[in-house]
Amino acid sequence: MTDYVDLPPLLGALGTLRLPGSKSISNRVLLLAALADGETEIRELLESDDTARMLDALEALGVDVEPLGGGAFRVCGAGGVFPIKDAELFLGNAGTAFRSLTAVLALSGGHYQLSGVPRMHERPIGDLVEALRELGADIACLEREGFPPLEIAPATIRPGGVVRVRGDVSSQFLTGLLMALPLTGVETSVEVVGELTSKPYIEITLATMARFGVHVLREGWQRFTIPAGSRYRSPGVVEVEGDASSASYFLALGAIGGGPLRVEGVGRDSIQGDVRFAEALALMGARIEVGPNWIEASAPAAGKLRGIEIDCNSIPDAAMTLATTALFAEGPTTLNNIASWRVKETDRIAAMATELSKLGATVCAGADFLRIEPPRGALLTPYAGIDTYDDHRIAMCFSLASMATTLRINDPGCVAKTFPDYFERLATLTRPVPVIAIDGPSASGKGTIAARVAATLGWHYLDSGALYRLTALAARRAGVAWDDEARVANIAAGLDVVFGENSIKLSGEEVGEAIRHEDISSGASQVAALPAVRSALLFRQRVFRQAPGLVADGRDMGSVVFPDAKTKVFLTASVEVRAQRRYKQLIEKGIAANIRPLLLDLRERDERDSRRSVAPLQQEADAKLLDTTELTIAATVEQVLSWNKS
Ligand code: DC
Repeated sequence: MTDYVDLPPLLGALGTLRLPGSKSISNRVLLLAALADGETEIRELLESDDTARMLDALEALGVDVEPLGGGAFRVCGAGGVFPIKDAELFLGNAGTAFRSLTAVLALSGGHYQLSGVPRMHERPIGDLVEALRELGADIACLEREGFPPLEIAPATIRPGGVVRVRGDVSSQFLTGLLMALPLTGVETSVEVVGELTSKPYIEITLATMARFGVHVLREGWQRFTIPAGSRYRSPGVVEVEGDASSASYFLALGAIGGGPLRVEGVGRDSIQGDVRFAEALALMGARIEVGPNWIEASAPAAGKLRGIEIDCNSIPDAAMTLATTALFAEGPTTLNNIASWRVKETDRIAAMATELSKLGATVCAGADFLRIEPPRGALLTPYAGIDTYDDHRIAMCFSLASMATTLRINDPGCVAKTFPDYFERLATLTRPVPVIAIDGPSASGKGTIAARVAATLGWHYLDSGALYRLTALAARRAGVAWDDEARVANIAAGLDVVFGENSIKLSGEEVGEAIRHEDISSGASQVAALPAVRSALLFRQRVFRQAPGLVADGRDMGSVVFPDAKTKVFLTASVEVRAQRRYKQLIEKGIAANIRPLLLDLRERDERDSRRSVAPLQQEADAKLLDTTELTIAATVEQVLSWNKS
């Protein structure tokens, strides 16, 4: 797993995305297909960590699942309880898999152990265990009463009558019970105690059960009855809808970044409650269009999005996306009725509050609500990155902030829970702030050319060498030796620099001249060879990328710092001409100089620079070579501009 991903700041978002399959539907369909009579072909199944845990579990329980390619799987139904009566299952952090398998296995007459990651063992399951015990199930909580891991032993089940289950902690308890009860074949009613949370997820459960031939009778959200003789039967082929929660990130991007951004795979006919997220976006002022199998979002026709107050009980997962969309709205946004966030992959209320604050929002977090006031000015750029708490949705919903700033997201691999290629898809639908990267040997004139190109385009300019020079100067002033890698890297990470039009201030003091001295050049070259220093300066350099564009000069601009730069130029000139240019520069500054030593020095530097192991000087494969030996500055600038246009 990589430690972080740096998202470039975005100018806009538009296009069309075919959504990955719904996690909620995928795991329900897999389980019911496994319990059903007959074979089921499942198409567009989500392939992610959560579904992999369910597939592993079904395999361990003796169910035959055959991948057919292209996201399709054939499941050979067990026609009732699983053939394997003794198994140990590891279910990671997959809540749907854990809760529904607990219910099914408790009624299966076998001996089973279910465990997950440490966070799974902190997520409550007591209400479900209690309800199953009412039916006669023998379930032991192995560490703490009411929490996984669990041990299930064979027991005499007494189905029929009424089972009571609490509904206000997680709707997955009710889902588990409903999906398991048809195994008994006896009419049983489930009565919900307390206000049922996340109701739309129960709709998904009921719709999926109906697809497999079991029609639950319901009285509102209070009482659900499984008719006698209910039995799952394969419908033959099941096509999984796109994931409506995953759709939320892209719809929000369309609403913030202009759009139109269309997601395909969910729409008017969806059985997933999270499609109603689009209505919340519309309340914020976004333009929304909905078709049978698609939804499209664009920014408001005029003005900005506006903050809203909204009850999120029916869209608990997609509501996280509203929290980060709120950063781009006028006025505060209040998300109410989100208590279930506290028992998800992490305590989402606490986590969202902490991370939103890093971006400059003023956040008020309550037991079951979150109020977000966007920053008055621009979003802040968190240098330590956004933490993700092993929670896929935090990683994905915070990616929206890249509409305003370069954004580091820590542990981005957690998106694999439901959307393994999220960041790749994001990149195909967004337009990053463009970069021109200019590299080349010492005295090739890259600084001059880069600054002129930036001025002509009205773009920002990054003189990356200046950062290494500033690091060397700051180290010297702090009495730190230039080869003390750890301490110099620390200094680089904490540089207090302000770049002005014609000034560079280090800790408030003008140092534009000081960093050009010969001994500081030598120090810069030494500190630039230290990998820890280069990585300490990486994010700092990326933050220079701001609308409308950036011209960056330096050694690894096109390879490491901005590998996605639109235009990469490798500037060079004969060593004699470069020596001439440097000579002229020095004389103009009133510094005595001699051409021969300059020439020798450049030759040595070229040699050293191209041989060094850390960021050696070399032309990138996708960089255009520009030999300026015979070119004027104006002609060189012209050439770079014309490459940038094409
Ligand atoms: O371009 P310059 O002379 O101001 O650079 C100062 C030093 O930093 C020089 O030794 C090259 C090094 N450098 C680097 O290693 N990587 C960069 N991106 C820019 C400069």
